[in-house]
Amino acid sequence: MTAPKGTQPALELRGVTKRFGRVTALEEVSLTVSRGEILAIVGDNGAGKSTLIKAISGVHRPDEGEILVEGEPVTLASPADARSAGIATVFQDLALVECLDVSTNMFLGQFPRRGWFVDRKKMDLESRRFLDELKVTVADVHTQIGMLSGGQRQIISIARAVRAGATTILLDEPTAALGVRETMHAGNIIATLREANNAVICVSHDIEFVFKIADRIVVMRLGKVAGIRTVAETTRDEIIALITGTKQEAA
Ligand SMILES: Nc1ncnc2c1ncn2[C@@H]1O[C@H](COP(=O)(O)OP(=O)(O)OP(=O)(O)O)[C@@H](O)[C@H]1O
Ligand SMILES: [Mg+2]
Repeated sequence: MTAPKGTQPALELRGVTKRFGRVTALEEVSLTVSRGEILAIVGDNGAGKSTLIKAISGVHRPDEGEILVEGEPVTLASPADARSAGIATVFQDLALVECLDVSTNMFLGQFPRRGWFVDRKKMDLESRRFLDELKVTVADVHTQIGMLSGGQRQIISIARAVRAGATTILLDEPTAALGVRETMHAGNIIATLREANNAVICVSHDIEFVFKIADRIVVMRLGKVAGIRTVAETTRDEIIALITGTKQEAA
């Protein structure tokens, strides 16, 4: 019997393996993330975090294993497949058009129309509403993207993903290029996504940030899941020991 919709994890990976020639970037990775949950992915350089994000966002096809969305197995052969499964990926600076303004970027590829014309007014109003919902401080939706800071751009990318109907949001190192204030702001936006009942997966090197925002932490090491912990029941020392391999999971 299938469980009623909403009680299944938003996303589940079962035994996902990805090889690049002789390198096994992901080995038998299994994890779940639910709606209303922030799952952090941590691990050393080369641990497989970005490959994991790319497998979920349809950039890389796993060699083995299954990906399930709301309990249903899916094939994510392209980023378009992932988008239509409600999965959006946000990379810093990526996928925004610098010379266009905020509201045009929010609607890129999906302009509202009135007759033959793009409904500029509707686009601006809806952009404003979305940014307000996410508590984003952009004074004017006519500001060119090129004029915004890295953090602001990233927030626009998140807002765009949510506007386009994404319910599972993947972030790869969202705070890597951000200052202290912008990092706090990014944390607030991610918390807002959780409040709106989205599932969030966030790769980060920043352990302090992870402990502030996440509900659970997946530690990757050499392509494998080294451990999964609930933030409320672990410590920074334990997570660091799992990252470096000085703590081994009991088999
Ligand atoms: N396109 C690719 N072709 C070949 N090897 C790759 C490719 N992408 C990743 N790898 C290899 O897979 C492994 C995992 O890389 P990945 O980028 O997922 O690590 P990461 O955890 O994101 O590291 P970082 O913290 O440095 O971003 C590494 O050994 C890397 O060299
Ligand atoms: Mg990476």
